[in-house]
Amino acid sequence: MHRIIKEKLPRHIAIIMDGNGRWAKKNLLNRIMGHKKGAESVRLVVKTCRELGIQYLTLYAFSIENWQRPENEVRALSSLLEEYLRLELQEMKKTNIKLITIGDTGKLPETVKDVLLDVMEKTSENRGMVLNLALSYGGRDEIVDAAKRILRDSKSTDIDENAITKDFFSGYLHTANIPDPDLLIRTSGEYRLSNFLLWQLAYTELYFTDVLWPEFSRDDLIEAIMDYQRRERRFGLISDQLSKE
Ligand code: FPP
Repeated sequence: MHRIIKEKLPRHIAIIMDGNGRWAKKNLLNRIMGHKKGAESVRLVVKTCRELGIQYLTLYAFSIENWQRPENEVRALSSLLEEYLRLELQEMKKTNIKLITIGDTGKLPETVKDVLLDVMEKTSENRGMVLNLALSYGGRDEIVDAAKRILRDSKSTDIDENAITKDFFSGYLHTANIPDPDLLIRTSGEYRLSNFLLWQLAYTELYFTDVLWPEFSRDDLIEAIMDYQRRERRFGLISDQLSKE
């Protein structure tokens, strides 16, 4: 039994899944085996979030910088993703999960793009939870991309300088239709954002744990959510102002 307060659940959880390589090393395995075990944690976390009633889950599965890893590792990550999507489609349908992506997915291998499109299409009507995979994603790249698209649109439609508000700008980000994360979890004892959701994390509660991603359990997730529920989110205000609302 956990003591999560149903009424205070984070609407959106984002996770930097880190430590697959170190887990493999610790267990005298190759890095690919670490990612394989990491994919099992993905299954467990998706299932648990769905059961708890989380509405949005964003997972940092492949950063734009990850393309620079050794070719065999990049290949292994993309086939793991492909395998994950093929195997999980039925489960996503059954549990009412909608799959979406953020990032420069055009760069992914054709086979991965095909299965991604297929799963997104077949789950597009699902409303139980949104699973958002960040693939070939970089936060700064996303912001630059938004600026470019605003400039492009301003050539065909008149955009007044005063119309460029924070909300307007958010609408040009890859996350246009989803709320900002309430809780960010990073595993493996690293205290960085690593170019993840730079704009969207402005008021997010950050949670760091030493647990390596392949060992991240249901209890670890519940602990992170309970820690979040003990915090007071002030959004720049003072406590008294919050209790008056
Ligand atoms: C970080 O570990 C993890 C990644 C770069 C990729 C995350 C991928 C998975 C969890 C598996 C496949 C994904 C899905 C959605 C099925 P690291 O290699 O940076 O670990 P290290 O810092 O210990 O070397």
